[in-house]
Amino acid sequence: MRIALTGGSGFVGSHLLQKLVSEGHEVRVLVRENSDTRLLNRLGVKLVYGDVTNRKSLPNLVNGADIIYHLAANIYTGTPDKFWKVNYYGTRNVLETCLHRDFQRLVFTSTVTVMGSISNPLANESYPYSPTSPYEKSKCEAEKLVLRYHKKFDVPVTVVRPAVVYGPRNMYHLKLYRWIRKGGFLIGSMNNLVHLSYIENLLGGITLAAEKPKAMGEVYIIAYEKPISWRRYVHLVAKAIGVNPRDGQVPLWTVKAVGHLSDFTSWMFGTNPLLTSGWVEDLTKNFAYDISKARRDLGYDPKVTLKEGISRTIGWYRRNGYLR
Ligand SMILES: NC(=O)c1ccc[n+]([C@@H]2O[C@H](COP(=O)([O-])OP(=O)(O)OC[C@H]3O[C@@H](n4cnc5c(N)ncnc54)[C@H](OP(=O)(O)O)[C@@H]3O)[C@@H](O)[C@H]2O)c1
Repeated sequence: MRIALTGGSGFVGSHLLQKLVSEGHEVRVLVRENSDTRLLNRLGVKLVYGDVTNRKSLPNLVNGADIIYHLAANIYTGTPDKFWKVNYYGTRNVLETCLHRDFQRLVFTSTVTVMGSISNPLANESYPYSPTSPYEKSKCEAEKLVLRYHKKFDVPVTVVRPAVVYGPRNMYHLKLYRWIRKGGFLIGSMNNLVHLSYIENLLGGITLAAEKPKAMGEVYIIAYEKPISWRRYVHLVAKAIGVNPRDGQVPLWTVKAVGHLSDFTSWMFGTNPLLTSGWVEDLTKNFAYDISKARRDLGYDPKVTLKEGISRTIGWYRRNGYLR
């Protein structure tokens, strides 16, 4: 099949690309002038230079494609304006470019956090929207727009909402793993729930969402079968690394202060934050989902267990010199 992809130089997109190329598909990827294209060049995919914020650059990407995966997003840094520009208006540009074209499916990667934190676990796809951060709000409006283009203009779409994704090449979990490696203290009680998704399991969900006729116009949560407490996740990672996390607790207010300071410096200097106030919030609330719709409609099955996923992730960090 001919496949077009945005976000192929990112964490999830690069894994998706590898899977699609290994399955023999012809893949075209949108990249920016400064994107890291080393892996993409090695894979031999066709690069289309452009930007989702520049609509004129998109027809070259989607022309003749059977399936379009739209993953490009601004996730971690920037002003609220930047989140809206890339995540909402960038998605609108992709949708506009797709109008009146003949293709099978546009898969949009949203996020479970469009539902905010979950007061009554487990949340399924009908849980109300309740985004809080600029990132979540921009993704939430983009998701609604994608569904509106389906209803109004018959654009063939499916929305997937991944939970927190981890796996090889994820540089944000690396921060956590390094902190655990150093015997990091637990923050607060950490008894609240996080819901993870291992990258390979997620790819299964995303590609099934593109293929299944039943998925047309639908939304799917893609995650492990069950959430886990942050405390248990930290303990599992520590065990796999071979260290004991110190059980003394860092008071939450201290970490919140660091988060706010880090937000400010990232906003001021455009740097990658060490921590954000949003991530600190995530350590105190519950994020827990029901994946039965994806299991039922897509045949989604998160085969790689948490233990195995953690072990593969640590293996990759170590082989590549990121973790001792
Ligand atoms: N990672 C998670 O835990 C998670 C969880 C839920 C949902 N998601 C969703 O999954 C998708 C992929 O996430 P990820 O973790 O792979 O993110 P990532 O590693 O930060 O990658 C983002 C990708 O988007 C591209 N991009 C950013 N701005 C762009 C623009 N203006 N024009 C074109 N491309 C642009 C980046 O290109 P450059 O290389 O040029 O920067 C990069 O390829 C996103 O839609 C995200 O919202 C991720």
